[in-house]
Amino acid sequence: MQVIHSVVELRARLARESNIAFVPTMGNLHAGHVALVEQARQQGTCVVVSIFVNPLQFGPNEDFDKYPRTLEADCAKLLGLADVVFAPAVDEMYPEPQSFYVELPPIASELCGAHRPGHFRGMATVVLKLLNLVQPQVALFGKKDYQQLAIIRQMVMQFNLPVAIVGGETVRAEDGLALSSRNQYLTPAERTEAAQLHLILGKVSESLANGSRDFDVLEKVAEAALAKRGWRVEYVSIRSQHGLGKPQVSERKLVVLAAARLGVTRLIDNLEVCL
Ligand code: PAJ
Repeated sequence: MQVIHSVVELRARLARESNIAFVPTMGNLHAGHVALVEQARQQGTCVVVSIFVNPLQFGPNEDFDKYPRTLEADCAKLLGLADVVFAPAVDEMYPEPQSFYVELPPIASELCGAHRPGHFRGMATVVLKLLNLVQPQVALFGKKDYQQLAIIRQMVMQFNLPVAIVGGETVRAEDGLALSSRNQYLTPAERTEAAQLHLILGKVSESLANGSRDFDVLEKVAEAALAKRGWRVEYVSIRSQHGLGKPQVSERKLVVLAAARLGVTRLIDNLEVCL
């Protein structure tokens, strides 16, 4: 496994590869990331993982400075799984201030986009840059960040990028909490409470499976249940899996998405529901 920090070296190393599977990350790797890398192993002969905490996708009051940076431990986890780790410094990715951005469709201003202005624009811009640098045949993203995955799929299709996007299932702790680098911000009491997010999404999913179609009511009930337990809820929303628009009552492929804060920690989760 080679750890590469520079763009020139990365391009030289990958020039003769013709079957690259790529997993972009911000590091501080956990079993969710590792599952994507294992899936990448099945998809390509050369597995590339990027580790880059992208300043463009953090808002001014977000956790860019305190986001955990653990390159050495990350590399140890990737040993034997990845062929190349690309870990550029900020100056390497942005040698001059980025003034060109991907302009996003209206759906990117809903759900998480409504609460994190500029986040998806910065995310899509760095993903486009990384895809251009690595030029993979396949790139893998987790369903944990469902809206991110949907935006990337649309971007790749509409810009005709020659890469297949593969979505990986969400990896969870035993109590159902979706693994996330941000879980370590939780106090022990918050960590116990955090599993409720997945449980409450499960209840919405059950109601849908039982035939309930009053999406607004189901969303409000779930939001109230979280608020009552002390969460600061950003949204619980039932959407169409494809495109993430508001679904018709006849829609059969739904996804229930939520974002809520426990103390200082913002958690997101979602559940696909196929009727
Ligand atoms: P990061 O949060 O590090 O996540 C990297 C990839 O791991 C993403 O595709 C994310 O969806 C996936 N992932 C995270 N937790 C997961 C879990 N519990 N189960 C399955 N997959 C999981 O997402 C980003 O970084 C950045 O926005 C990035 C795409 C790298 C652009 O900067």
